Amino acid sequence: MKGILLSGGAGTRLRPITHTGPKQLVPVANKPVLQYALEDFRDAGITEVGIILGHKGREEIQEYLGDGSEFGLEITYIVQGNPLGLAHAAGCAKEFVGDDDFVMYLGDNILHQGIEELVDSYREGDYDAGIALQEVANPRQFGVAAVDESGAVRRLVEKPEAPPSNLALIGVYVFSPAIFDAIEAIEPSWRGELEITDAIQRLLDEDRKIDSHVVEGWWKDTGKPEDILEANRLVLEEIDGAVEGEIEAGAEVSGRVQLDSGAVIQEGAVVRGPVAVAEGTVISDGTYLGPYSSIGPNTEISNAHIESSVIIGESEISTSGKIVDSLIGRNTTIAPADGLLPEGRRLVVGENSDLNL
Ligand code: DAU
Repeated sequence: MKGILLSGGAGTRLRPITHTGPKQLVPVANKPVLQYALEDFRDAGITEVGIILGHKGREEIQEYLGDGSEFGLEITYIVQGNPLGLAHAAGCAKEFVGDDDFVMYLGDNILHQGIEELVDSYREGDYDAGIALQEVANPRQFGVAAVDESGAVRRLVEKPEAPPSNLALIGVYVFSPAIFDAIEAIEPSWRGELEITDAIQRLLDEDRKIDSHVVEGWWKDTGKPEDILEANRLVLEEIDGAVEGEIEAGAEVSGRVQLDSGAVIQEGAVVRGPVAVAEGTVISDGTYLGPYSSIGPNTEISNAHIESSVIIGESEISTSGKIVDSLIGRNTTIAPADGLLPEGRRLVVGENSDLNL
């Protein structure tokens, strides 16, 4: 079995964070979102992985993942170009997949329990597709499955006006190569995309067997800033708290703290876990770093109060104003305006930003 990871798409809902890079590299607990999926592939014994790339951030993704050996994988890059839909992206992998079955994982999804159960169950039957489902409160925003009492899938519909159930398709699928003929047979949807949901419906119409699983553990589609923050909270909830960096005497640290090598919590700083602090970052005197915060690499935090936030890195934060539930992009400076006239907040803010002052 092979794997394909979808890392194209425009990332519009994560602007301005994604103005300069792909959304699949946005970090959750200081690890790019797509790395969670790659680790799931490896844990399920799938080592041949095709990465589907769009136009945006192609080089960054290739630079980060290399040939995959660092992640225990053998990576092949496949360029999709324009984001013409999930089925189009899958279709680009036809040659790579050959006669194998394959798992398709959306590069911005994180699945707490991994993919082993889904893969094992698919292997046990004579299936052409395996889908993972979870109950959601807002099914209109997803692909939705109608399932009968025995659990058999009856119908699939993408972002329905009138959802037939509240079971959303989550971002992991298993397919036989039969999916490629189905993809060639479908037409673009109302949103102009070739939908994988329609291709699976096509398999159903041909009376092919489809395995389905209701996933119990948490699952997050990290398409929007609030989803990144929520995923960050969920992942930090379970970190072990390994201290490889330095905690100076006189720093007050409690709870689980993942402190990477070269990171320092200085005397006079107060840190309450769970938090993650990446390499080269300094948390200095007068700072309160509260639960569910991830601070990326090479960042200086002084005299600040930060809680429940993701600071992507390479930044400098020295404001005394409280920063909560925030997602802050790379190379950002947040400094106090004390004493400057005229009084007021001084902002240099990119396009499509979202501020609550
Ligand atoms: O998150 C689960 C949902 O994902 C499912 O319930 C839906 O059925 C499915 O269509 C999909 O919906 P989204 O609208 O959330 O998909 P999105 O456009 O965000 O794309 C998902 C990932 O696939 C993302 O990492 C970008 C990548 N992608 C997307 C498109 C459209 C590609 O690589 N190529 C593409 O052409």
